[in-house]
Amino acid sequence: MDKLVIQGGNKLYGSVTIGGAKNAVVALLPATLLSRDVVVLENVPAIRDVRIMLGIMGQLGAQIKMLDKTTYQIDTRHIGYQVVPNDVAKRLRASYYLIGAMLGTFGKAEVSLPGGCDFGVRPINLHLKGFKSLGADVDVANGMVKASTEGGLTGSSIYMDEVSVGATINVMLAAVKAHGLTIIENAAREPHIVDLANFLNRMGANVRGAGTDVIKIKGVEELHGCQYSVIPDQIEAGTYMAAVAAAGGDVTIKNVTPKHLESIIAKLAECGVDIEEGDDEVRVRRFGELTHCNVKTMPHPGFPTDMQPQIVALLSLASGTSIVNESVWESRFRYVNQLTKLGANINVEGSKMAVIQGVEKLRGACVNATDLRAGAAMIIAGLAAEGETEIEDIYHIERGYEDVVEKFRAIGADMQKRYYPDEDELELHA
Ligand code: EPU
Repeated sequence: MDKLVIQGGNKLYGSVTIGGAKNAVVALLPATLLSRDVVVLENVPAIRDVRIMLGIMGQLGAQIKMLDKTTYQIDTRHIGYQVVPNDVAKRLRASYYLIGAMLGTFGKAEVSLPGGCDFGVRPINLHLKGFKSLGADVDVANGMVKASTEGGLTGSSIYMDEVSVGATINVMLAAVKAHGLTIIENAAREPHIVDLANFLNRMGANVRGAGTDVIKIKGVEELHGCQYSVIPDQIEAGTYMAAVAAAGGDVTIKNVTPKHLESIIAKLAECGVDIEEGDDEVRVRRFGELTHCNVKTMPHPGFPTDMQPQIVALLSLASGTSIVNESVWESRFRYVNQLTKLGANINVEGSKMAVIQGVEKLRGACVNATDLRAGAAMIIAGLAAEGETEIEDIYHIERGYEDVVEKFRAIGADMQKRYYPDEDELELHA
């Protein structure tokens, strides 16, 4: 078992470069299937979710060449239809994008229900509603989603009852090659939705309105290959910003789109963090006291739910009482008892509100990364805490953060990844 071991207390200085956005690239990769041509994707982050998705695409017959650490050539000219079974699909949430992409490419898809972080119920009813509305026959049985169409998909108007990133993306993937016009109303507006629309358009699609709540897609017969660079990861950037805010110091976060970070910048500034925006970088400085603030997570352009655990870790060190409301996920405070092991004073009321009474110090402890962003919160708390923090189950963190140890060490953190044999292995060698 690998653990992260952090000696807390170092202030952070220097600069860190952010990678491509996880939640964009996991949609762009399946979208390459639709082109049945050669695509070169740049700024691809070196994270586990990408490796898993590339593995699935390889099984479908895509020929994948790594041109350099962050650039891949993906040739989908010789792909063939296959069922995507549970042992593969359960390894990441974004496997559900294969349903939309394969339905658009082959006119059929059979993909197991997806895995991903556990925040309570994570329904996909709106994805299925979208596919049905485009004329697909959709059935869910024995954990498999089956969708198919006889004469091709036909554009239609789809109203999303909830603002859903996944359902918006999945319908976009299915609709780009459908006959006629598809209109998605109450669409999600996240930066990765715009990135997917730009990528699809670069491949010859006709998608308009991404970034607003109405997206219009005129179906085209064919797409073609292209070269495209994935947008920077808003949440990776926000995580480093929160880490500097918690540990203190002066760090420039490079390769970011400051516009995507507005809500995060606004909340950190409210806490007393000094932030300077450049064209594609932000400088984060914190030497004084942190002050409390209230945060409510919302779909974009609101404060992102994927930054909620990180801001809670930070606020646990801010003077006064902060209230954080989670309005996207049913149950995203399960990690809080890990922070309390470090000395944080947090009460979760119901399942959607955390009341945080700032403490002067956190003290190192053994904690678990209960999911991806919870793991990021443990790193932030560990960096700011006195003494040693050990974080277990770091495979969650590696799903979404590239070179996390190297990047934090480069800005002065005392962090190591250590391998600990588990009990079975110890017995084996006894
Ligand atoms: N919802 C429905 N029905 C659906 C789909 C969603 O009711 O068919 C509800 C959900 O229950 C939730 C809300 O709509 O209350 C929003 O869910 P959404 O579909 O937007 O989430 P998602 O697509 O499953 C993506 C990200 C998550 C991120 C959310 C919200 C990916 C692969 N995952 O999930 O990212 O929290 O959007 O922004 O893009 C992460 O990166 O750590 C992460 C969990």
